[in-house]
Amino acid sequence: MSHPARRIATQGYHPVSKFQHWLMALIWIAAWIIGFVAVHFRDTLNAHHELTIVHKALASTVVFLTLLRIVWRWKHPAPPLPSSMSPGMRKAAHAAHIALYAFALVALPLSGWMWSSVADKPIMLLGLFKLPPLVAPAPEFYGLAKMVHQWLSWTIGLLVVGHVAAAVKHHLVDRDGVLQSMLPTRNAAD
Ligand code: HEM
Ligand code: HEM
Repeated sequence: MSHPARRIATQGYHPVSKFQHWLMALIWIAAWIIGFVAVHFRDTLNAHHELTIVHKALASTVVFLTLLRIVWRWKHPAPPLPSSMSPGMRKAAHAAHIALYAFALVALPLSGWMWSSVADKPIMLLGLFKLPPLVAPAPEFYGLAKMVHQWLSWTIGLLVVGHVAAAVKHHLVDRDGVLQSMLPTRNAAD
């Protein structure tokens, strides 16, 4: 017989880390859906670029929130994963989280910023501040920049779907406390 009490993750993320995770998850998912609707329902719902403007205003906050989050994460490590996970699975979970930081939270918004820069289009952070272009306007790179952002948004969308599916599996199948470690109910380690 195994000892259920020893198999579950007993510590949670720091409350600030949880707040950062859920705020950014909300912004990220909303930005993805708005970007998708802006492109694929252009004539009906985005005739005057209103959704494109909202997409850029919201999604551009991700770069700066990520900087804050990485600084915070440096000093506040994640709680240990449950001992029921094999070393290989723990390594995979760790690698997946690094990939989320690198691709979903850094590379994807930077690729959007790059696209708007080469297209010579403004990005208004939260509709308030104009971000400086990353590079000078370059119409010859428009197609490439567009392809990179669109391709990244779809592949990283799949990564995020995998991340959410893993969290649900931990909760429903493994029942190992990993989802609770990110929920407001589980306290951080003393
Ligand atoms: C500085 C940040 C960003 C900028 C400037 C930006 C810019 C853009 C622009 C201009 C479009 C095309 C909209 C249109 O043609 O009407 C677009 C599409 C899109 N963006 Fe972003 N974006 C940024 C960040 C993000 C982030 C963080 C995500 C993911 C959450 C994302 C996901 C998407 C998606 C899914 C599409 C539609 C792609 C397609 O299906 O063709 N973008 N983005
Ligand atoms: C409903 C949606 C989501 C659920 C249920 C969820 C759940 C979780 C859980 C349970 C953890 C802790 C995993 C562990 O310690 O092994 C976690 C961590 C993480 N999640 Fe999510 N998540 C969601 C959406 C997102 C989104 C949209 C992003 C970013 C695009 C994201 C990025 C991350 C990152 C980077 C970590 C690692 C945190 C760290 O260790 O610093 N999550 N998530």
